[in-house]
Amino acid sequence: MFDLTSIHSNDSESLYTSINDFVDGLFYEERDALANMSNLASLLYHTLGDVNWVGYYLFKSGELVLGPFQGKPACIRISLGKGVCGTAAKKRETLRISDVHQFEGHIACDVDTNAELVIPMIKDGVLLGVLDIDSKLPDRFSEEDQKALENIVDKLLKASDYD
Ligand code: SME
Repeated sequence: MFDLTSIHSNDSESLYTSINDFVDGLFYEERDALANMSNLASLLYHTLGDVNWVGYYLFKSGELVLGPFQGKPACIRISLGKGVCGTAAKKRETLRISDVHQFEGHIACDVDTNAELVIPMIKDGVLLGVLDIDSKLPDRFSEEDQKALENIVDKLLKASDYD
């Protein structure tokens, strides 16, 4: 049904343009948050390149709980303020870590992970969770990746109902 073969490029601007076009199609006339999060995780996992885990930790009853993801099974619960995910969620700030082994308190779900990008999901001032993207490649994520992926998270939140 969905053909991802058109999404590939050595140039990150055109890569994100095609990813964004695809995202618009995925979210078209669909506001279910779980469905949209799941499809987005799959899309990013299969198109970003050099990523080994893409998924969500959702904020529930004061802690982060594993949500839909692509990659190996991962830790289920993360306290606010713990690890890269819990820190990004607590600070409500994106964390772009070039070497997770230098990040104090990093939670090693997959020992192969070296770089990590964690983007908080905040809608109408409410913390909903984080999008977590891992890579085996040190320094995998650029500032351009961060901005493009923050925009995609924003699109996810606007396109979906989290009630
Ligand atoms: N490394 C993360 C934990 C989640 S996994 O990478 C999937 C962290 O330190 O919060």
